[in-house]
Amino acid sequence: MRNKIVAGNWKMNKNSEQTEDLLNELIEKMPIDTEVKVIVAPTFVNLSSAVDHLQFTSIEVAAQNVHQSESGAFTGEISADMLKSVGVGIVILGHSERRAIFHETDALIASKVNTALEHDMTVIFCFGEELKDRQSKNHFNIVENQLRDGLFQIAAKDWNHIVLAYEPVWAIGTGETASPEQVQEMHEFIRETVRKAYGSDIAEDVSILYGGSVKPDNAKEIFSKPDVDGGLIGGAALKVDDFIAIVTAF
Ligand code: PGA
Repeated sequence: MRNKIVAGNWKMNKNSEQTEDLLNELIEKMPIDTEVKVIVAPTFVNLSSAVDHLQFTSIEVAAQNVHQSESGAFTGEISADMLKSVGVGIVILGHSERRAIFHETDALIASKVNTALEHDMTVIFCFGEELKDRQSKNHFNIVENQLRDGLFQIAAKDWNHIVLAYEPVWAIGTGETASPEQVQEMHEFIRETVRKAYGSDIAEDVSILYGGSVKPDNAKEIFSKPDVDGGLIGGAALKVDDFIAIVTAF
């Protein structure tokens, strides 16, 4: 069964106090009867308190990254075991900012995916083309390669721990959104690509989120497309009213 998911990627925003304030407002305003699975991803230092804060709610907490190794001399890094030990079972991997700014390659992302799965974590696997790829009509190839090189090493049994997040780089933080038709066209292609590699059951079951300037005024139309199962939200996740409006857009 596909889940409807709205995940907020807070990126490098909100200190400890601001995190608590945002979570309190979220708890207060979140409709309790929503069938949407809601996830928030604060920064590493605030994960533990976020888990505590949300323990009696249905809102789940994700990390924005994880290191591929178990432990050791990796100054500044965080392991899957550390995340699990504070109650975090979801991790966002392959985000375009990690790829572009921190030079994460498909191979590195693949090894992070493997490590997260070994720890029974759920992976929100992000991928998407740059503007130049779309302009040169190479976007389907790019997306297929990112899936093949970063994700398709996993075993079929691990797909119930995977959420896909298609995020065209040209739409992230730019205010420019892919049109609902462009999103549907790509999501259909992604599902077909999964189908070819792993079969229909897995392809039909996997949730595919769209990310890139999702806002209250465009969420409804994007989410109404048959292959769109939710959104990965950046900027609008930092404003509770906008984030809730996106959740309720389903
Ligand atoms: P945005 O970010 O909603 O601010 O475009 C999306 C993301 O980076 O996941």
